[in-house]
Amino acid sequence: MENTLTNGAVKFFSGKQIPLEMHKVKIVQSLNLVPVERRLEAIEEAGFNSFLLNTRDIFLDMLTDSGTNAQSDAQVSKMFIADEAYAGSQSFTRFEESVLSIFGKKFVLPVHQGRAAENILSKSYVKEGSVIPTNYHFTTTLAHIQLNGGKVLELYTSEAMKVRSSHPFKGNMDIGRLEEAIQKEGAENIPFIRMEASTNLLGGQPFSLQNLRDVRKTADKYGIQIVMDASLVGENAYFIKIREKAYAGKSLSEILLEMSSLCDIIYFSGRKVSSSRGGAICTNNPEVFDRLKFLLPVYEGFLTYGGIPIREIESMAEGLKETVDENVVSHSPSFINYMAGELDRLGIPVILPGGALGCHIDAGQFLDHLPQEEYPAGALITAFYIVSGVRGMERGTISNNRDENGKDILADLELMRLAVPRRVFTLSQIEYVIDRLNWLYQNRKLVGGLRFTQEPELLRFFIGRLEPLSDWPQKLAAKFRADVGESL
Ligand code: F0G
Repeated sequence: MENTLTNGAVKFFSGKQIPLEMHKVKIVQSLNLVPVERRLEAIEEAGFNSFLLNTRDIFLDMLTDSGTNAQSDAQVSKMFIADEAYAGSQSFTRFEESVLSIFGKKFVLPVHQGRAAENILSKSYVKEGSVIPTNYHFTTTLAHIQLNGGKVLELYTSEAMKVRSSHPFKGNMDIGRLEEAIQKEGAENIPFIRMEASTNLLGGQPFSLQNLRDVRKTADKYGIQIVMDASLVGENAYFIKIREKAYAGKSLSEILLEMSSLCDIIYFSGRKVSSSRGGAICTNNPEVFDRLKFLLPVYEGFLTYGGIPIREIESMAEGLKETVDENVVSHSPSFINYMAGELDRLGIPVILPGGALGCHIDAGQFLDHLPQEEYPAGALITAFYIVSGVRGMERGTISNNRDENGKDILADLELMRLAVPRRVFTLSQIEYVIDRLNWLYQNRKLVGGLRFTQEPELLRFFIGRLEPLSDWPQKLAAKFRADVGESL
């Protein structure tokens, strides 16, 4: 696929494909890079789980983009006009206006974050025996659907699981499989079809508008609603603009409105889509709104604040408007595209094409000497932290629960996600990540496996603790020290 991701229309005379930042830095936070010996201790203290590290031991925090995207000056300034009221806040009215202009939906329920929206939707629509077809699950979505007695059907296309691909829309739903699934399960057992815009666990891969139209056609045939998870929708719209020919001349705003018009219910994590904190559910259907709204005061807060500080409602309203600014939503994809291209050039297995949210390294291939039961993605996160101070997130078997017999559910893909939150890192920092990953790739055989020592039943990846199967972390750190000398 042609690389069209140099930000904006700026070409470098050198011919290099370098992403150009379309913002300047106004406020900064100092970073620490502790020596490899301390990093080894820190990851041990954290039970070999990157979630349990303290940021004082972290150089570049690439855990997530959730709540960590840089905010704009406009967003921060809007916080000062927040109308702090328990009920009937004018800030909420501005939020409603923003949702209407971006998504074309007039009924809005604010919630404290994305998974709270999933809780309310699942409590309202999912019951024992329900089946939710989706282009791919997200961890918290799956948990809520299962807690309410439902199951998820992953209806991705065969392209989705190919690591090196040139397919522009690996997040598409397979329409043939959807049709089959509806016939087999019965439309009456399917409360909604879920489309995740930029599928997180597939490596931030988008779906096309054509695919969404096809899903809509099938849904209409059987009278089923479509729910869109819009947590990464800005990037998905951007990919549609640059990868789907029919949309090259459209604005992001037009694309987003067309996507929304094909969905009955939209929910999102404001921590991601609008670089703020919070979330929401929106719809144009008054019956849906009436069904959902009664749960809001029980789980979140009154209808006009939803458990979010009002200043964040203002920030979310502004942040949503900025998701149709190409310079904002192209930032992360263009950095990821650059990083993925460089890693690929070095022979490091990385998900291609680059998607939204982060660069995804294929730990299964990177550590192909480790069986999946020894958690290669978790091991790679540990190893990479030791040699770089960079914190990534495991997106592999550790991120799955066990089956009813207590056996690991082996992940379709063993990924190390290195998140690239919007407008946070500089290119020299990305170059550092590439450099240290290259060293680790040359020394990959030193990396061994992990096993759980403490394991929660649900969402174990957040707070579970592990241990290495040998003293490989010490050996890796020693080799690193020997190779880099005095360097950190
Ligand atoms: N849906 C998607 C696609 C997400 O990526 C997330 C969160 C959620 C729902 C839940 O939203 O965190 O606000 O409750 N993703 C974060 C991540 C946690 O790191 O990828 P939340």
